Amino acid sequence: MEIKKYMSSDEKIALANLNPGAKKIFIETYGCQMNVADSELVYSIMIEDGFAVTDDYNIADLILINTCSVRDNAEQKIRNRLKVLGLVKRSRPGVLIGILGCMAERLKEQLIEEEKLVDIIAGPDSYRALPKLVAEAESGQKAINVLLSREETYAEISPVRKSKNKVTAFVSITRGCDNMCAFCVVPFTRGRERSRNPETILREVDEIISEGFKEITLLGQNVDKYNWNNGEVNFAGLLRMVAIKNPNLRVRFSTSYPQDFTDEVIKVMSEHENICKYIHLPVQAGSNNMLEKMRRGYTREWYLGRIKAIKTMIPDCAISTDIIAGYCSETEEDHKETLSLMEEVGYDYAYMFKYSPRPGTYAANNFPDDVSEEDKSRRLSEIIEIQHKLSLESNLKDLNKIFSVLVEGISKKSDERLFGRNSQNKVIVFPGKDFRIGTYVNVLVTDCTSATLLGHITSEDDLISKINKKI
Ligand code: 5AD
Ligand code: SF4
Repeated sequence: MEIKKYMSSDEKIALANLNPGAKKIFIETYGCQMNVADSELVYSIMIEDGFAVTDDYNIADLILINTCSVRDNAEQKIRNRLKVLGLVKRSRPGVLIGILGCMAERLKEQLIEEEKLVDIIAGPDSYRALPKLVAEAESGQKAINVLLSREETYAEISPVRKSKNKVTAFVSITRGCDNMCAFCVVPFTRGRERSRNPETILREVDEIISEGFKEITLLGQNVDKYNWNNGEVNFAGLLRMVAIKNPNLRVRFSTSYPQDFTDEVIKVMSEHENICKYIHLPVQAGSNNMLEKMRRGYTREWYLGRIKAIKTMIPDCAISTDIIAGYCSETEEDHKETLSLMEEVGYDYAYMFKYSPRPGTYAANNFPDDVSEEDKSRRLSEIIEIQHKLSLESNLKDLNKIFSVLVEGISKKSDERLFGRNSQNKVIVFPGKDFRIGTYVNVLVTDCTSATLLGHITSEDDLISKINKKI
């Protein structure tokens, strides 16, 4: 089937599904936003190969699981899921099951030996080979491709954005990671760092705008390392190019790396209203001992310097982070330094994890995982407790403020309510009807929890009376 460039994702899916004889693909995605973006590429590749798309794995001919290896519990969850999906294969033996992503890359053939129901293994750089792998599997062979690439493998492919939310879209700009943090499996599963041609990125942004999306997130394991043609375009330059495309398109990015996060990027953010005032800057730990042992390449003081630069240049910028509790040989003293750093920064949000040794990493090879499970759990609880307090404090500061909110959907808890996010990436819930989805509304914040802001849309009259009251 020929797919014309100007077709929207919905049109591509509808056309593919018109063919009654087409085999059906179902994809389940775990892990990071990069995996979500990659699954969209896989849809595109497989639709082009003649597949139709389904949301129901019970009627799928090809079930693909896009996997994550970042922590052991992510892998266990997927192995459990495989048991359930395996039942489908028992009742319909013709169904093919494929493992994509980081677990495929990390475990390779071993995964096929351990999980007998798996037919296809495709690492993050092998998705162009999927039609061939599927054909091999159909002929009864186990099909594996886990080659990693030095080039951006998918620059020219237009992802098929299948999500129900037609408001926000992902665009990948770099792949892989060269940082080699001691605890992290990603350099092994996603290979060397490489940047995508800016022309193809800008073309994809145009497509996204013409499809009616209102927000994009530029994605990479380390977006700050974006570098096209030996410095011809760096991340700050790319961010500016994307931001000026359309002032109504919100622009976000993830993930930044403290060592590489430049003042130039902060300056571009401050100069463009539509670049969201939100930075995710993973710190991992607060003590210099731990940072060194993690091979992060920066100190606590240096990190705090980056935070100061952000807060000085963009006073209303929200900041979130990732934290690991109980890394190798972490003492109570080290842990307390993580807690004090959290207080010092005053994070608006954090993703918090227990250290999980990943086979093959520098840490797993060289340092014993010697913090007891009990201490890890307690330290993680203390970290979560502090973040809970900080998030609440941050949200309380937003009471009585009015934010421009991009409406993303209907609140899970009530059909009568909508939710969206402000520039700072905070979720705001308010009464409203679904015709507002994809529009910007001004919301006055009247209440909050530590996780969510609550409010209502302000009409101009409300706004004027509020201003008048203040006067
Ligand atoms: N154990 C626990 N957390 C980890 N992360 C990465 N590797 C590990 C690991 N081995 C966390 C880091 C990273 C986030 C994506 O996952 O905090 O920033
Ligand atoms: Fe998980 Fe990291 Fe792979 Fe993303 S890149 S899927 S977070 S292991």
